[in-house]
Amino acid sequence: MALLKLNNPQSAIRNPQSIRPRRLRVTPAIRAMVRETELNAHDFIYPLFVRHCEGRTEIRSMPGVFQLSVDEAVREAESAAALGILSVILFGIPAEKDPLGLENFADDGIVQQAIRAIKQNIPEMVVVTDVCLCEYTDHGHCGILNVQDGAKPRPSKNLPEGYVLNDQTLDILGKVAVSHAECGADIVAPSGMMDGMVAAIRAALDESGFENTPILSYAVKYASSFYGPFREAAEGAPKFGDRKSHQMDPANVHEALREAALDVDEGADMLMVKPALAYLDVIRAVKEAFPELPLAAYNVSGEYAMIKAAAANGWIDEAKVTLETLTGMKRAGADLILTYHAKEAAKWLQQT
Ligand code: PBG
Repeated sequence: MALLKLNNPQSAIRNPQSIRPRRLRVTPAIRAMVRETELNAHDFIYPLFVRHCEGRTEIRSMPGVFQLSVDEAVREAESAAALGILSVILFGIPAEKDPLGLENFADDGIVQQAIRAIKQNIPEMVVVTDVCLCEYTDHGHCGILNVQDGAKPRPSKNLPEGYVLNDQTLDILGKVAVSHAECGADIVAPSGMMDGMVAAIRAALDESGFENTPILSYAVKYASSFYGPFREAAEGAPKFGDRKSHQMDPANVHEALREAALDVDEGADMLMVKPALAYLDVIRAVKEAFPELPLAAYNVSGEYAMIKAAAANGWIDEAKVTLETLTGMKRAGADLILTYHAKEAAKWLQQT
């Protein structure tokens, strides 16, 4: 822009003193009038961890985040609602883990209980559920594993032992989504990065009469080291290996657009990029490619933990750094942000 104007003989730039961007920064009111990005409490989706327990237990690497009983989850959702937060996303820690993750779609599963309790007490709260296997399986992987010991499911050919089987996992994801919808979940959010997961869940929901339940797809999810604290919170770390055979390589952005396009084709109603902070360019690219779909960014556990740790040392101003970070995600193109800072950020926004 500036260069074009320089070539224009009528341009005010011929008198450099006449162009002063600082004019629009003189007072707080003018700055507010020209602000391009506005952060609001209703941009936030607040993650809650529920488990079969009494009370609440703080997560060591995530100060201010707790594993909650169902009652405590309702209380936490109520306090979020009082701050103007419209939505929570639920993660469950089951009583028992097994190779298939059976509690994931059990009628009395922990997430199922929490959905019912929150919807009963705060009907207007938009309850999103994470749909994945990793918190429920004894091996901690996001799907059914390729096992060569003759056990079910039948081994796939030419795949390594321990590989997460795609299509066998899709059947379970469909069951989990339907089970959540039956309890009143407003939105289901598959996070396992299985090929075809959106189509499979859409078909399962539609077959059960939930054609109006939206899917928020974790369409672009990287194999990131920023998930460390979450895996402590959700007790869902893989017992061996990693998630690189399904989550994306942090080096790739064109592939992100391919993943997003597939999920849009399969019927995703909303997309997500995860993590957020090291992937702002990906958020921007996905928003520009699919401006018509609401886009969420997941401000993940490691991003939260870094700010908390620096703030605890007195090295940064937590409120200011958090709001600046969240604003950056929105400016990059995110319409919604999943953040553990949701309640605090909503409070800080009320003070500014
Ligand atoms: C999978 C899931 C994970 C996160 C959200 N959903 C963990 C993983 O993929 O290993 C991470 C979120 C965070 O780090 O805050 N159910």
